[in-house]
Amino acid sequence: MTWVIQAVYIVTAFAFIYALKQMSHPKTARQGVVYAGIAMAAAVLVTFLWPGMQNLGLMVVALVLGGGVAWWAAKVVAMTDMPQMVAIYNGMGGGAAGTIAAVELLGGNLEPALAALAALGGLIGAVSFSGSLIAFAKLQRLMKERPITFRGQQAFNLIWLAITAVLGAVLVFTQPVSLIMLFFVMALIFGVLMTLPIGGADMPVVISLYNAFTGLAVGFEGIALSQPALMVAGTVVGAAGTLLTQLMAKAMNRSLANVLFGAFGAVEQEAEIEGEMKPIGVDDVAAMMAYASKVIIVPGYGMAVAQAQHKIKELMDELGKRGVDVKFAIHPVAGRMPGHMNVLLAEAGVPYDKLYDLEDINPEFETADVALVIGANDVVNPAARREGSPLFGMPILDVDKAHNVIVIKRGRGKGFAGIENELFFKDNTRMLFGDAKDVVTKLVQAIKQY
Ligand code: TAP
Repeated sequence: MTWVIQAVYIVTAFAFIYALKQMSHPKTARQGVVYAGIAMAAAVLVTFLWPGMQNLGLMVVALVLGGGVAWWAAKVVAMTDMPQMVAIYNGMGGGAAGTIAAVELLGGNLEPALAALAALGGLIGAVSFSGSLIAFAKLQRLMKERPITFRGQQAFNLIWLAITAVLGAVLVFTQPVSLIMLFFVMALIFGVLMTLPIGGADMPVVISLYNAFTGLAVGFEGIALSQPALMVAGTVVGAAGTLLTQLMAKAMNRSLANVLFGAFGAVEQEAEIEGEMKPIGVDDVAAMMAYASKVIIVPGYGMAVAQAQHKIKELMDELGKRGVDVKFAIHPVAGRMPGHMNVLLAEAGVPYDKLYDLEDINPEFETADVALVIGANDVVNPAARREGSPLFGMPILDVDKAHNVIVIKRGRGKGFAGIENELFFKDNTRMLFGDAKDVVTKLVQAIKQY
């Protein structure tokens, strides 16, 4: 029987890798998720067949409870709350890896190599667990979202980590219960300390980093327990999380060190903006767009909040019928999760070849008659080009270079980074105030008159 179980684990491991490959393209992503789910279910089921497996009843209760809560949460959570959900799930993974490590260590008499793996996995898992919980609390606004800093914080955190690492090193050779407890408490506190000074737009990067941490911790536990499925699943998650962290940090033009230690948004350095916002009516915008030859639509978080994507697809179709060349400019961190805009627009039936990445679309703004910004703010803020701005360095969509800029938003609300946007005050910008879905619905009606 054991060889059957091992064989299923190996097949599962390959299925995870294949599923991840599928997830890398929007067309096959859904299928990839299903494959990964089936593989995970198979790995869990055959685990029940291990000879001498105990506490089967408890395992079933845990699965039913955990699976039930996850099912319910996945059904009710709003798309815009996805980062919090990822944070909490990820934290659970880290917690599980940390708990396995604790059980291994508490069992005592571990060989030094296995004890080292358990301690390392335990440290990373525990940090990921408590860090992810703080990230969840910040994103859910259960606590202050801004970075929490104090004098000498980095030195303090470094010393704390060093002491925890020394405790972990001692555990490699001897595993008294009191030392194991102290080690885990210190690791959990370190996760909190590490996340407190991070805030603002950096939160998604940190969540992705903890995702990578959880993967690593699971991978280490897989080696300690000689479990190929855990090893591969952990490595795959660790690698994917690391790549995503790098991509997101790059999209914000920040180094990972700067994200972790830079305390983004801790100080507000805003320059005074001159001029005023100039409102415009739906009919004027409809005329402007109906007679344009090129329109670039820039969606942002507000589109997701308003669920305006279906109306935007209608707008694209109406303009297309009138011979207008319509393109979508997608910023890598628009919205609240990687690929947020792509997912919503794909759901509404906007073809992939209409969606352009930042590097590809930026040179085109100069030749666009209209740039239509729908619920985007930070990703089009020209302040990012100016040294001293909290957004400095983040690549932005060069919307301000279009002949006319129309911005749809409800009022004077700021973006995620909490700073004013000088784009809204520029001479070539007009503000079309209102909820994105309502406004675009009216815009489609008005364009039909032309
Ligand atoms: P934001 O900068 O968050 O701005 C969104 C704008 O949408 C707000 O200014 C708001 O103004 C408007 N809005 C909200 N609800 C609306 C509605 N129903 N109808 C019309 N407008 C509405 O969005 P962005 O430009 O997409 O930038 C994303 C930000 O989030 C970046 O700073 C990014 O770093 C951060 N972030 C990104 C991610 C990922 S991975 N994508 C994850 C977390 C955070 P009003 O209130 O005036 O309407």
